[in-house]
Amino acid sequence: MRAQPEGIRVAVVGVGHWGSRHLRVLRSATGVSAVVGVDERFSGADSQQAGVGVAAYASLEEALPHVDAVVIATPPASHPGLGLTAIAAGKHVLVEKPLATTTDAARALVEAADAAGVVLMPGHTFEHNAAVRKLRDLVRDCQLGRVFYLDCARLNLGLYQSDVNVILDLAAHDISIANFVLGSRPATVEVWGSRYVHPEHEDVAYLRLDYADLGVRANIHVSWLYPTKVRRITAVGSKRMATYDDLADAERIRVFDRSAIPPDEGDGPLSHIAYHLGDVVSPFVPFAEPLAVQDQHFIDCIGNGSPPAVDGSNGLAVVQALECAQISLREQRPVALAEVARGSPAARGAALAGARHG
Ligand SMILES: NC(=O)c1ccc[n+]([C@@H]2O[C@H](COP(=O)([O-])OP(=O)(O)OC[C@H]3O[C@@H](n4cnc5c(N)ncnc54)[C@H](O)[C@@H]3O)[C@@H](O)[C@H]2O)c1
Repeated sequence: MRAQPEGIRVAVVGVGHWGSRHLRVLRSATGVSAVVGVDERFSGADSQQAGVGVAAYASLEEALPHVDAVVIATPPASHPGLGLTAIAAGKHVLVEKPLATTTDAARALVEAADAAGVVLMPGHTFEHNAAVRKLRDLVRDCQLGRVFYLDCARLNLGLYQSDVNVILDLAAHDISIANFVLGSRPATVEVWGSRYVHPEHEDVAYLRLDYADLGVRANIHVSWLYPTKVRRITAVGSKRMATYDDLADAERIRVFDRSAIPPDEGDGPLSHIAYHLGDVVSPFVPFAEPLAVQDQHFIDCIGNGSPPAVDGSNGLAVVQALECAQISLREQRPVALAEVARGSPAARGAALAGARHG
């Protein structure tokens, strides 16, 4: 489906904490002619009463005839059902992270979008963040030497979600960042998690992703139960180390010219480790609101008919790692992505049927 010549009309489904931000950035995006808000809370309300400053609908079905594209910012379990409904109506779709809560449902979305010839983008906001792109460039251009490991921390006294645990809520970001920065996908995922306050959902978790093709591990700590707010990714290499601090006002990326140098072969034990201690440099990173960059890219892809830089397969890869994490949590073992990547056609059919009725 091609864009209307006068501009693209977009519905934001789920006008809550995050959907209201989509509404804001889409209203000033180039190439957008109209934005409407859809939320089940708007039932019986007109757009004035809904208080969102745009035309408002209580269901996706009511909004579909009026739009060309749909942004889904509802709780994760509802993503596949809403996404498949929008795709079946020929609409382009941006689905907030995680794309779905199971691999089969995520794959159903990817296959449906391919078959319909519409754009499908996951809301991997950090892959549109200039600082994350800088970190990716440092790794890709071998500025850190050989990368030994990534360390990710996403912690605070966080907002407990009603339908997912802290892994599905927060680790989705770190997995997408790690896949993006390393340019790869993990072979296995292992998790340790605890439920301290919520009776059903883990509120603290540690994940270890093994990027076997690179010999690199990503260690991810996510928590809704932590006294201070931390949003930090560290890449440790053989020549240098770099940190990305999403909360820093300035110097969001810092490159430390520091390394530990192994002893020469035959030299013997640890006492022979030498240290290189050089400058700390903070490269300039221009600021642009990542959500605005992401949503503008979605609109541009629809307008130009070009494939998105971050597409359904990226969303699926993150969901696969998340599903491995859930299995690892239950069975207390490392889980290979291959285990969930296979997905039987029967399981997919069931996921599709479940999603349509979900
Ligand atoms: N990319 C990011 O950085 C980022 C940040 C925060 C949240 N998110 C994602 O955004 C999504 C929403 O999170 P949130 O914190 O805004 O949740 P929220 O609870 O604040 O808002 C969800 C809204 O969806 C509405 N809703 C639920 N089911 C609906 C349906 N079937 N049809 C219409 N409306 C429906 C609810 O009434 C609510 O207003 C989640 O997937 C979350 O993971 C992404």
